[in-house]
Amino acid sequence: MEFKTIFEPFRIHSVEPLRLSTPEERENALKSAGYNVFGLRAVDVMIDLLTDSGTGAMSRDQWAAIQHGDESYAGSPSWELFRDSVKSLFPFKHVIPTHQGRAAEKILFSVLGGEGKFIPNNTHFDTTRANIEFTKATAVDLVIPEGRDPQSRHPFKGNMDIVALEAFIAEHGAANIPVVMITVTNNSGGGQPVSLENIRQVSAVCKKNGLILFLDACRYAENAWFIREREAGQSGRDVADIVREMASYADGMTISAKKDPMGNIGGWLALNDDNIAQEARNLLILTEGFTTYGGLAGRDLEALAVGIGESVSHDYLQYRIRSTAYLGNALAEGGIPVVQPIGGHAVYLDARALLPHIPPLEYPGQALAIALYQMGGVRGCEIGTVMFGMQPDGSEKAAAMDLVRLAIPRRTYTQSHIDYVIEVCLAVRELAPKLAGYRIIEQPKLLRHFTAQFAPL
Ligand code: F0G
Repeated sequence: MEFKTIFEPFRIHSVEPLRLSTPEERENALKSAGYNVFGLRAVDVMIDLLTDSGTGAMSRDQWAAIQHGDESYAGSPSWELFRDSVKSLFPFKHVIPTHQGRAAEKILFSVLGGEGKFIPNNTHFDTTRANIEFTKATAVDLVIPEGRDPQSRHPFKGNMDIVALEAFIAEHGAANIPVVMITVTNNSGGGQPVSLENIRQVSAVCKKNGLILFLDACRYAENAWFIREREAGQSGRDVADIVREMASYADGMTISAKKDPMGNIGGWLALNDDNIAQEARNLLILTEGFTTYGGLAGRDLEALAVGIGESVSHDYLQYRIRSTAYLGNALAEGGIPVVQPIGGHAVYLDARALLPHIPPLEYPGQALAIALYQMGGVRGCEIGTVMFGMQPDGSEKAAAMDLVRLAIPRRTYTQSHIDYVIEVCLAVRELAPKLAGYRIIEQPKLLRHFTAQFAPL
């Protein structure tokens, strides 16, 4: 018998209170936050879907492992456990721990980036792009055309456009491309997976041109689950095995361990090349810490060693992917345009389609994110023109899509919380024709979405 209810493969062990707020309290909170959801106090948020990064619930076994943490400065046994756990899925020669994903990116691009260099990806995440541009290199997005169409139902919308990649290499020269990247799943493109076949093809193009390939592997387990579900010949395979095959086509990886590895903090850089590894370790010591802990405490390394194992559990992944789809499908059925098919860690509302009367440079995604908070204390995050619209030369242009991401923290909210989110979204849909856009009254040069201040139009 196949039951309809999604079985959450855990029960609650310790609880955190959630405070209910009134619309008036939320309006005041928004004003003092400059209408930027990143400026809200978390206690003023009822359901926090800002990110799935570091916000998940750790397991009993992870908390137990924390007690086992060994804080030796060099060569801690917690480091050995962590390194071996990483290598069990990603058998790269060198593993370099960092405090989170962007620290791994900063180190990698400090070694490989620089003026005149180009770094292609399916779609760069914002910190990846910013770390590349900080070195004066150029970050390029080469996702397949379906990946830019919110309604396309391609099963692997995160795939890299192989023809575009080959043309790009021919145009700019392999010597100016220090690394090619693939982000799994493609977060900025809707949490969409990349197929094994596509990773294999990108790897072949890289090899032919003497280039190295790195995975931005934050959501490796979710990506592998989609491969198991959707790719010909992959059903029934062990997810850990699929992850190892994904890794086998790459020469290295960056990752935020705050995603699939179930950490509240952490990341790593792993790779095969001895020279790059040596330069990276030198930089690591400069900014993160010694090579056997990076920016992490021994106890964090222990929690991650356990979390990496839990991340590839089939019971967990089945629940994870089904529960994200539950939210996305309910919204779509209620008439809210969402990026299709539903991604792994988040549902992406198509704000440009829901609010066609708000032009991209008046930030429809921002307007929708604010409305969700006003209506029900639900915090999502704009992924659109606010996040990507600022050009390196200071000009502004509309992003490819204006989305609002509702990211689902791992193992944290129950089905009734998600039912509440659905009700809030449907109530906002009723108001959609009346919502107005925003203008920016203050912004920094880089990563403006975190700190920009807005005013309603
Ligand atoms: N790469 C991807 C694909 C990411 O999604 C993130 C973080 C990073 C790199 C950077 O990792 O935060 O540990 O420094 N994404 C979070 C998010 C912040 O909300 O999607 P980090």
